[in-house]
Amino acid sequence: MTLDNPFADYDRLFDQWRERNPAGTFGAFSAARIQGSLKRGYQHPTLNCEDEGKAVEDAESVIQTYEAVTGSAPAPTSLRICDYGCGSLRVGLPLIARQDHGCYIGLDTVDTFLKAAREKHPDILEKQPLLGSVAQGLAAAIKAAPDLVFAYNVASHIHPDEVDEFYENIRALSAKPGCIVLLHVLVSAQPVRFQRSGWAWPMDFYVDRMLPLGFVKAKVGQTVERNGSELQSQVLTFVQPAK
Ligand SMILES: C[S@@+](CC[C@H](N)C(=O)[O-])C[C@H]1O[C@@H](n2cnc3c(N)ncnc32)[C@H](O)[C@@H]1O
Repeated sequence: MTLDNPFADYDRLFDQWRERNPAGTFGAFSAARIQGSLKRGYQHPTLNCEDEGKAVEDAESVIQTYEAVTGSAPAPTSLRICDYGCGSLRVGLPLIARQDHGCYIGLDTVDTFLKAAREKHPDILEKQPLLGSVAQGLAAAIKAAPDLVFAYNVASHIHPDEVDEFYENIRALSAKPGCIVLLHVLVSAQPVRFQRSGWAWPMDFYVDRMLPLGFVKAKVGQTVERNGSELQSQVLTFVQPAK
């Protein structure tokens, strides 16, 4: 007996796309679909979001969580911050404005969203942020040894086949002793695919994936119901132990 896959049509589209893009990942496939819908005028909750207030709030929560965990307030503007899966710099823009030159690093698997942000906000380049695709920019970002790494609204979109690489990259970026990682996730009692590009996992999954970083605390947000599963939005804080 095979279980019904409510997303089988979408998965078939992915398979067809991969025949034309043999090295393509699910992340790249999703990004291509999103780009198409943005061109047709679709409003995406984060990728062409005009809600500046929410973006500033998210950026402040990144800084405040860092301050609360490290006990160093205000967080230094020389702190090197990596925004993993930065998209169109929704949270990145206020952080680039806050931090010193060269102290913001924005990485995404596809740089199309980043390119759009650079074109829309050419003034940010003056602050010399390090912006690029994961494929081309990861090594330089690791070398920059960030003090704080965060991934907001990213982990829940990672296909199970691409999960290993995702956490491996985050762990590599956060190798500096004392580095803080903030991971926005959806927590569910059982592993669940709740939408075409949406997965939630039990808490242990995230804590295990982040080892050797230690889990510090969770900021618990809303609980929503999707396809019969309860999903709790949480921002998990981890710290890289001292050597
Ligand atoms: C919903 S958007 C969130 C963007 C941004 N973090 C925000 O909150 O505004 C998800 C982003 O994750 C990126 N992404 C998807 N898979 C990724 C991966 N494996 N590694 C890094 N980024 C990824 C997508 O390209 C997209 O820009």
